[in-house]
Amino acid sequence: MAQLWGGRFTGETDRLASQFNASITFDRKLFAQDIEGSIAHVVMLAKQGILTGEEKDQIVRGLTGIREDVFEGRLSITEEYEDIHSFVEAVLTQRIGEAGKKLHTGRSRNDQVALDMRLYIRLKVLQVSDHLKGLLETILSLMENHLTTYMPGFTHLQKAQPTTLAHHLGAYFEMFKRDVLRMEDIYKRMNYCPLGSGAFAGTTYPLDRSYTAYLMGFEGPTLNSMDSVADRDYIIEFLAALSTIMMHLSRFSEEIIIWNSNEYRFVEIDDGFSTGSSIMPQKKNPDIAELVRGKTGRVYGALMSILTTMKGLPLAYNKDMQEDKEVTFDAIETVENCLILFKGMLSSMKFNEQVMERSARKGFTNATDAADYLVGKGVAFRDAHGIVGQMVLFCIEKECSIDELSLEELKRFSPSFESDIYEAVSLKTCVEKRLTIGAPGLKAMEEVIRINREFLETRDKERK
Ligand code: ARG
Repeated sequence: MAQLWGGRFTGETDRLASQFNASITFDRKLFAQDIEGSIAHVVMLAKQGILTGEEKDQIVRGLTGIREDVFEGRLSITEEYEDIHSFVEAVLTQRIGEAGKKLHTGRSRNDQVALDMRLYIRLKVLQVSDHLKGLLETILSLMENHLTTYMPGFTHLQKAQPTTLAHHLGAYFEMFKRDVLRMEDIYKRMNYCPLGSGAFAGTTYPLDRSYTAYLMGFEGPTLNSMDSVADRDYIIEFLAALSTIMMHLSRFSEEIIIWNSNEYRFVEIDDGFSTGSSIMPQKKNPDIAELVRGKTGRVYGALMSILTTMKGLPLAYNKDMQEDKEVTFDAIETVENCLILFKGMLSSMKFNEQVMERSARKGFTNATDAADYLVGKGVAFRDAHGIVGQMVLFCIEKECSIDELSLEELKRFSPSFESDIYEAVSLKTCVEKRLTIGAPGLKAMEEVIRINREFLETRDKERK
């Protein structure tokens, strides 16, 4: 295996040990970042007079050539190299000769890999944020279309009070909105450049770390060279945020699976996002939602894995840290796919508005409002609660809803009932009277939608 060291070694590395040690099969993902970091590094070295202008130009031309050749398929990243850094340096030196050997001046693979990973994660923080915003757009449009789609709200998975589909979906909007804010937070905290920290103690060359940081769009250089090569906090933060996204997607998936069940039929998942059974011809299964729910465990696993890897590491770099890559790459890919598929599934899903409304009507979701009605007529709330409880029992026997009882029947439970009770416990009234901000009433929902539109629009503008 081609490696960057060997001067002090006399024996060969065991074949299995060398495979075990190598990271090229997965850190090849960092190829573009490795080239970007190397270009910034040599531009800075030339500015500081450590390399000549001529050497810098040769190296930069060599590096951009390698980048093009790999991207266009003329050069492949092969497994004879230990890692992506060795691959780039070896190919560069083959191509441009002596100058190539100067690329690594004032640098260690420790700060190099710290930089590559940071550049990669920084990009992924933005991309995950974009996927989240796409999903938020879908949810917000659905909310706008379903402001008066009545449905039961649940506690303990038992019908509780009536609400609207817009209100229910709005809960998920707030969750994914917080996920976007978490991405913005992580970006700000991680956006400092570790390059120039060397193996861990800086270097004796007069590097300009602020300049390389500036060239790559960082806020500035990191401030402790030991921490720079040993810090993986930002990966842990990112994985924690990805786990939270998956937790939200998983809860939503669980609801969709329930809503799509034969018993509920609140929604119908589009054929494009369902699968059939090999034996039961009648089946249409919500596999995509189930897989999103299932893959949550895998992303949590990545978080636990890195937390555990990091917990016993003395300063500064240790090879254990190479383990940060595979699980993180896998978690990112999983979350990106889940966000894309979930958005597709949601936007193509059919909502059975009448079924939802009937379910709200049949489930005594207006019982609280019936009690509140009696309170309005001067009955103490505790008494009203008892009266309506007895009415519900009666209705269960009779297999009807509260508003299907005649005024005569109602009066048997309380003389305070009058003909305005029917209007008072209609689904529309029950929802429309809930007008505090955050509640499902139309005016309140419209205000929330306006605020959330603005949230998306400001971010849309900033991105442009
Ligand atoms: N493949 C290594 C990693 O991912 C790169 C850094 C190697 N540094 C070293 N001192 N061996 O962490």
